[in-house]
Formats: sequence, structure tokens, C-alpha cells
Amino acid sequence: MSAKDRPEREFRPPGGSAAREPDGPSERRAPECEARTRSSEPQAWGGHQPNDTLLRALRREPTPYVPVWLMRQAGRYLPEYAALRAKAGSFMALATNPSLAAEVTLQPLARFPLDAAILFSDILTVPDAMGLGLRFAEGEGPRFARTTADEQAIAALTVPDLARLRYVFDAIGEIKRALAGRVPLIGFAGSPFTLACYMIEGRGSADFATVRRMAFARPDLLDRLVRVNADAVSAYLAEQARAGADALMLFDTWGGLLAPEAYRRFSLAPTRSILARLPAGIPTIVFTKGAAASLPAIAESGASCIGLDWTADLGYARRRFGERVAFQGNLDPLALLTDPDSVERAALALIDESGSAPGYVFNVGHGLVPATPPENVAALVAAVHRASRTCNAGQKASGSGYRGG
Ligand code: CP3
Repeated sequence: MSAKDRPEREFRPPGGSAAREPDGPSERRAPECEARTRSSEPQAWGGHQPNDTLLRALRREPTPYVPVWLMRQAGRYLPEYAALRAKAGSFMALATNPSLAAEVTLQPLARFPLDAAILFSDILTVPDAMGLGLRFAEGEGPRFARTTADEQAIAALTVPDLARLRYVFDAIGEIKRALAGRVPLIGFAGSPFTLACYMIEGRGSADFATVRRMAFARPDLLDRLVRVNADAVSAYLAEQARAGADALMLFDTWGGLLAPEAYRRFSLAPTRSILARLPAGIPTIVFTKGAAASLPAIAESGASCIGLDWTADLGYARRRFGERVAFQGNLDPLALLTDPDSVERAALALIDESGSAPGYVFNVGHGLVPATPPENVAALVAAVHRASRTCNAGQKASGSGYRGG
């Protein structure tokens, strides 16, 4: 493969060593793609042209290769992140300083030819702006000083003044200037239900038992909580779009904990109400962990793209709903705790599973874990680009493009 056939690396790693060159064992192809090999398509990313591959995939338009970005692509597995966090003193000191937040956002792009940047922030900044008092204790995860677990606290809750989240919109402005159109920027927020989980418990939990009990004992309180969150998140995301975010993602990490009816009421309904209020035309991604059983409903939610966790059957989801919605995912992030060769095999298998139809964004099925070796991320991004270029060349040519479909 010649240099001009692969996505240009705009952000070069210091010394250029982190991203692997597309030689070596990587001439392997996803078997599904073999039959689809065609001569060259116009390149999305030549020279210094903007790379809008992600946005086109989210709109289910043909792309010359599968775009890839990774949840938690900026984070603790990168030594340069750990260094900057140590210097800043805390996660919130990084996140609330627009130029530091911009620097962290760009760190993974300096190493890997990723097809998107994602704003460096956290979903819990919204409840923090509501006055709950967020801090991240080292090695312990998020903690709120106050919870909203009873009638009084929930009744007192209001949509925060967006001025309290100004640092986020300022960070978006800085990131957009630094990117200069090279890749799109994804803005994000937590889903109303996932935010409610942390607001009620005040911290992370394995089962969010208090929240699930409230869904039965006081559904009226949970209704009010997710309604306020939906109002806050829709205003917050619309403002992120105005500040320059090119796509918007909702993280519903805990929606999958709910029984189907409770899921529709407390998670999907407020998510839909947010999607309906966002500026027209901006692509949206809804990631729900444990949502495989709710796919038909999520496919009708108004999202452009559904993010799948690693337990979902990507091939099935694409065959069944791929005409209506794009998909993102869903490599088990622990596959990256191996070696470059195993990572590459896993990537090819997933691209094969996904098939060549438009509307696919490669990602992990949940965030990268801190022990991830950066060289495995480099191998993953290179393998996705290389293998999918062959696969996607047949996009307009043959059949449905869904594996086995
Ligand atoms: O993906 C990205 O690179 C963008 C930044 C981002 C962070 N958090 C940075 C972060 C995003 C999109 C999030 C979303 C988020 N935050 C979610 C939804 C996605 C998911 O992972 O399920 C949730 C549930 C949170 C809440 C949260 N923030 C927890 C539970 C923790 C601690 C445990 C953990 O996973 O690290 C955080 C901290 C956090 N948010 C870190 C980062 C880089 C690590 C903080 C540190 O430096 O110690």
C-alpha cells in the first residue's frame, strides 16, 4: 500500500514511533472484504484536506475506509496524560482549564491517526454545575458532596445556568482552533438516567441499588430527576454544538441495569426528548451499555448512530437495523491488553462481522482501561484503516453489504 492510500497523520508523534507502519503481519484482510476489492475510490483524506470520514459514516454515506476513534482515547493509559494530570493536581483542574483540556484532547491525535477528537471533560460536570460538588479522588472515581436521593433534594433541583459550564464551551473553541478542521470534534453528555444514578448514590456503584429501588418505590421522583436532567443536557449539548462540536454523543452507561419497561420510561424517553431538541442536522450517537435487548427502540430514538458494548452482536445489529441507523463499536477494550498481532486479528474479525455497508464507526465497546499499552492502540488504528479500505471499496457495488445479509 502506498503512502497516499492511507490516512495522513496530521499529528505526528514525537520521533514518529508510536503508530505502526502498515507493513508486517498486517497484510491480512478481513475475509468478508476479499470479494469486495475494487480499484481506488476518491480519497477522503489526501494531503491537508479535512477528514470528515466520521461524519459521513454517522450519516451512513459511503466512506473509503472505516473511521475509528476510541472511548477514553485521552486518559490514564497515556504517560503524557498522567504527567499533565499530576502537574495540574487533579482531574477537575485539567477539565476546568480550557487550554489544558484542549491539550489533553489532542494528546491521542499526536500519536495515532484517529478520525475524531472527543472533548476532554466528564459527564458529571452537569450535576456539578447543579451544585452537587464533584471531585475525583485519586484511584477512587467520582464523589459528590451532596446527593439528590430524597423528595426535598429532587424538588429543589433546577437546570443550571450554562455560564457555570462556560469552561467546557471555551475548551471546545480552543480545540476547534487547534484542529483547524483536520478531524471532527465530538461533544458529549451523560444520559439523564446515568446522571441520575450518580446523583442519587453520590458515587459509582456495582448495581445502583438505591436508584433501582426508587424506580419502584417513588417513580414520580425519578421521573422528575430525569426530566430536569434532560432539560439541562439538551441545553448543554445545544451549546456545545454552537461552540463548534461537530457531532454529539450521549453516554448511557447504566441504562442497561433497568428492566425493559423501566428502561423505556427512565432512560430512553428522556434521551429521545433530548435528541428531539438538538439542532437539526448534527449527527448524534447514543451509547447504552447492555442495550442489545432494546435495539429496536433505540433504533427509533432519533439517534444517527447506536454505540454498542462488546457483548452485542454487531453483525446482527447491522443486518437488522443498518438501513435506519449507523453503528459504533464494539471491540472488548480488554482485547487491547494483549499484543499488536492479537489486536489486529480482533480488529479484522470485527470489520468482517460488520460487513461493508455504509454506516459503521469502529470503536471499543467501553472505555480503554489504564493498563492499555499505547503500541496496541497504534496497531488497532492502523489495522482498522488498512483492512477497511479494501472492504469499503465495494460499498456501492454489491448486495446489501451486511455480513450474511
Ligand atoms: O472518552 C474520552 O476520552 C473523553 C473524556 C471522558 C471522560 N469521561 C474522561 C475521564 C468521557 C466521555 C467520560 C464519560 C464518563 N464519565 C462516563 C460514561 C462513559 C463510561 O465510561 O461509562 C462515566 C460513567 C463517567 C464517570 C466517571 N468519570 C467515572 C466513573 C470515573 C472514574 C473511573 C474511570 O473510569 O476512570 C471518571 C473519571 C475520568 N473521566 C477519567 C477520565 C480520563 C479518569 C480520571 C483520572 O485522571 O483519574
